[in-house]
Amino acid sequence: MRVLLGGMSLGEKVGQLNLLAGAMDVTGMRDSGDLEGKVLSGECGAVFNVYTAGATRALQELALRSRQGIPLIFGYDVIHGHRTIFPHPLGLSCSWNLGLIERCARAAAVEAAADGLHWVFSPMVDISHDPRWGRVAEGAGEDPWLGSKIAVAMVRGYQGEDLADPAAVVACVKHFALYGAPLGGRDYHTVDMSRRAMEETYFPPYRAAIDAGARTVMTSFNEIDGVPASGNRWLLTELLRGNWGFTGWIVTDYTAVSEMKCHGTAGTDGDAARQAIEAGVDMDMVSEAFAGELPELVKSGAVDEALIDAAVMRVLETKWDLGLFADPFARCDEAKAAAVMLSGQTRQLAREAAREAMVLLKNDNSLLPLSKDLKVALIGPLGESRRDMLGCWIAAGDEAHAVAPLEGIRAVLGERGQVSFAPGCEVNDANAEWLGQAIEAANQADLVILTLGESWQMSGEAASRTDIRLPMCQRDLARQILETGKPCVLVTLSGRPLDLSWEDSAFGAILHAWALGTEGGHALAEVLFGDAAPVGKLTMGFPRSVGQLPMTYREKPTGRPFDPASAYTSKYLDSPNTPLFPFGHGLTYGEFHCSAVSIDAAEMSAGGVIQVSLVITNIGKVAATESLQLYLRDLVASVSRPVKELRGFQRVTLAPGEARTVAFAITDADLAFPGRDLLPVVEPGEFEAMIGVSSAVFQSVRFTRLDAAV
Ligand code: GLC
Repeated sequence: MRVLLGGMSLGEKVGQLNLLAGAMDVTGMRDSGDLEGKVLSGECGAVFNVYTAGATRALQELALRSRQGIPLIFGYDVIHGHRTIFPHPLGLSCSWNLGLIERCARAAAVEAAADGLHWVFSPMVDISHDPRWGRVAEGAGEDPWLGSKIAVAMVRGYQGEDLADPAAVVACVKHFALYGAPLGGRDYHTVDMSRRAMEETYFPPYRAAIDAGARTVMTSFNEIDGVPASGNRWLLTELLRGNWGFTGWIVTDYTAVSEMKCHGTAGTDGDAARQAIEAGVDMDMVSEAFAGELPELVKSGAVDEALIDAAVMRVLETKWDLGLFADPFARCDEAKAAAVMLSGQTRQLAREAAREAMVLLKNDNSLLPLSKDLKVALIGPLGESRRDMLGCWIAAGDEAHAVAPLEGIRAVLGERGQVSFAPGCEVNDANAEWLGQAIEAANQADLVILTLGESWQMSGEAASRTDIRLPMCQRDLARQILETGKPCVLVTLSGRPLDLSWEDSAFGAILHAWALGTEGGHALAEVLFGDAAPVGKLTMGFPRSVGQLPMTYREKPTGRPFDPASAYTSKYLDSPNTPLFPFGHGLTYGEFHCSAVSIDAAEMSAGGVIQVSLVITNIGKVAATESLQLYLRDLVASVSRPVKELRGFQRVTLAPGEARTVAFAITDADLAFPGRDLLPVVEPGEFEAMIGVSSAVFQSVRFTRLDAAV
């Protein structure tokens, strides 16, 4: 590689750091003109938004004809599947099933690689406490501990054992950093955060992904302490490369280098390019500020060429490890593509994932599962929609292959099924005629399944909302349908947690179905009619109103914890503090009893292990699955600690009457936190261990930690 570098002109070197967008998808504000010309002249080292064996082969051939003949790397936003679409990441995270999540990432990699791709812009591991921010759909929710485990599973799934395997793709951890905490939940907005919050809450998943071997990192659009991430040397060089030991390459987000001019921290593209390369950025996505400015900056002595050489080496090394120099066309095999895309096995996996992503929010009087013998009216604007089932960021996914709720219900009910459908309204607009038809359909049926929620455009990038209730027309539709007096189940689809306070007061059963992907309709129908039971648990709480946001179950205690008997305690005048549906919540078809929590010792020493356990019994009539969660609290510490933090979970499936002891081992790692100097520490003192079925329903026990550890 060094020899190759030695033979490259400055322009060719900078070309390797230039990532350009093709025209097969549009994911940002500006496209890259004359892509072919720039590839042929060696001014471009990487391309995204171009896929298929044929299209990537054609561009690759041009790259090989450039003077150095260095192969291109092809990237794409494969966020939750490439052609077979899995539930969006927030939905899939609600499975809490790390093996399943890894298998989905693997399957996405197999399809992506067969379509000529080497690099996926995933996982997005931004923690967020604010569902106003539309991009919560792309992450794993509010919790850093679970978020870290999911980040690792995804990196493993994408990259596999060996990047040279033609079915492996390079992962890209994004958006570094803190992108999930924009002020007011408004996308691209300023972030203002303490170092402590970064260490305790926001950094862990990025770090976990990097420790798992993720080869690339994407910078975020936001500033950090006044300096945009893409020009932030502290963030990229001192922390990421220095402290965390990251050796891969750093790419900016879309036009983030030139956006430093809008941030007001760079006056010109040249200024922005210099700041970015000096901060530690290796690759410029679409700005073309590196390509346009760095050669002059080096010639004038304003930028050290050694920085550029180091960046080029990082890019070339990964290209080498991908096997691109050995066979640049290894991932351009049409026959293989035809064989792997949307295979029966991958669709089966998508169905499994969709089943596990759904969260049963409430189910009074066991309204669900539904009988297959009744006359059903499916009502709501999303009932027949395939596209909305796929959600935001669908890569090369095509709604033609997706299954809408109505199709799924018809398939599950088969010949004997009696299903009618009426949209009732549009997603955001009322329609008087449709409303009348929907009421009529409800009147003709024995029961109603209302499918309401967000269209796919209402979450994802640049899709923040200040009101996260269902659109007014849908709430009106729901009211009118409830007035028919027919039993009615609510199915909600969305990319984000919603404010379902009114729906909670009006409906006995609510199943939250996110955007479930290609096989969504099938999985939804299976759960509605009892062919499968819901097992999902929320990874992000549902607030009672936007007024509570941002919020998290991991909140810090205040000096005035809420006390209903005292006015001067931390509360709202018009709402409880708690979420409507908390982190970790999710019901199933079944009933369990949990014993008190027991502990195998009252005290724990450094390096020791303490076991907490309880006995869970299936007291229902059918086999059922429950997920138990372990939370810890450090009661007195040198810095305030969250009121509870997730530290473990286990899923158990029990036959009726069956009981099982579920034990969690607590070790030093579970008790550690960033001390006053922000370095990890375990402090002696009392701890509380809680085991529950959600972050709000649990039993607890205390133990004493005898000594400190660092
Ligand atoms: C964006 C996104 C990022 C994505 C990139 C490329 O604007 O913020 O997540 O990977 O563009 O499409």
